[in-house]
Amino acid sequence: MPEPVLGILTLYLNDAKQLEEKSVYRRMIIEGSRIGLDVFVFTPADVHVSKEQINALVYDIKSGTWSRKWRSFPNMIYDRCRIQRSQRFQQLLRFRARYDHLTFLNRPLRNKWTVHQTFSQRSRFRQHMPETLLYQSSADLHRMLKFSPVVYVKPINGTGGRGILRIERQREGKHLYDIQGRRQSRQIIAPRKVTLNRLESIVRQWCLGGRFLVQQGIPLRLPSGRFHDYRMLVQKNGQGVWEFTGMAGRVGAARSVTSNLHGGGHAMKAEVLLKQWLGSEERADKAMRTAEKLGLEAAAYLEDSFGALCELALDLAIDREGKIYVLEVNPKPAREVFARSGDSATYRKALIRPLEYAMWVYKNKNTPSSAKTVEE
Ligand SMILES: Nc1ncnc2c1ncn2[C@@H]1O[C@H](COP(=O)(O)OP(=O)(O)O)[C@@H](O)[C@H]1O
Ligand SMILES: [Mg+2]
Repeated sequence: MPEPVLGILTLYLNDAKQLEEKSVYRRMIIEGSRIGLDVFVFTPADVHVSKEQINALVYDIKSGTWSRKWRSFPNMIYDRCRIQRSQRFQQLLRFRARYDHLTFLNRPLRNKWTVHQTFSQRSRFRQHMPETLLYQSSADLHRMLKFSPVVYVKPINGTGGRGILRIERQREGKHLYDIQGRRQSRQIIAPRKVTLNRLESIVRQWCLGGRFLVQQGIPLRLPSGRFHDYRMLVQKNGQGVWEFTGMAGRVGAARSVTSNLHGGGHAMKAEVLLKQWLGSEERADKAMRTAEKLGLEAAAYLEDSFGALCELALDLAIDREGKIYVLEVNPKPAREVFARSGDSATYRKALIRPLEYAMWVYKNKNTPSSAKTVEE
């Protein structure tokens, strides 16, 4: 019997056809071969529609080399493409629409605002959502500043900590506000104090040409002055069941209001950081367990709401009382955070689980449904 085939769908970074995660894909191909899964990499630009073939990137494990090979469409597709403003992304949208009938392990999620509204429909999740409004005018900014002394402004389609503004109401009188942030280019905007009038016009400018959220800021400043949060990964396993893979702490760069690794942040073991932050191992354990349960239930709920998912990363803010907030969910997470926090076992698990899940999907797809019920 031929081996099941998994195609990793990605996008070229540029016209030189470079790939961002090539070394990750290489590892996945090697791990795939160990469990009997044939894995190749392709982009929408490599698909020959009339020939019904793909000029795929294949990796030869023995010689350790990449090459091109014409391949049939894979049995399953693992989509790694992230939103970007480019022709390549438009081509991806056409690919997804045309080949909708193929088996995708994961489907794209929606923007941060739609996801927030979806979570907010359930009290189970609403309690873990920061207060959030879609910015329409200065009135929304006022409302949020009344509710919370710290407010974050961020794009509904942002990634990697881009285009994020942090506003803090000054405690002592004079109606001054501290603002700092990161531009679309991720360049750091140094902190400065402004009046309410000035703040309004800065935010108005900031939100031009896109849709933005104004969100309650969760207090995440460490004693060192840096901001931190937690990245949790849940994935479907080889039995098709959601499982917790791991959690890591992220500490932002100096002067950064975001903790994303791409913005110069560094990773730590979650247990270590949480214990420091909450003051005891017991409180850290409790928060970890609550977070884990939340992550698993959130993934299942989003899958029901938006379609197939095989993994989900959650950016979690945990305040000093141990209360957990979901800042963002990411259906196509990088796993580097686990390698960088020194947790190589979790890193490996994070790479292998989608492959084991693909095997499960393949088996179930090709088992007649009556046989499946008997198995259950
Ligand atoms: N409401 C908030 N309170 C505190 N920090 C926040 C808040 N929203 C975002 N951040 C910080 O900014 C980072 C990036 O925000 P996020 O919503 O995850 O967007 P992105 O898609 O750019 O990663 C977070 O990892 C966190 O460090
Ligand atoms: Mg994020």
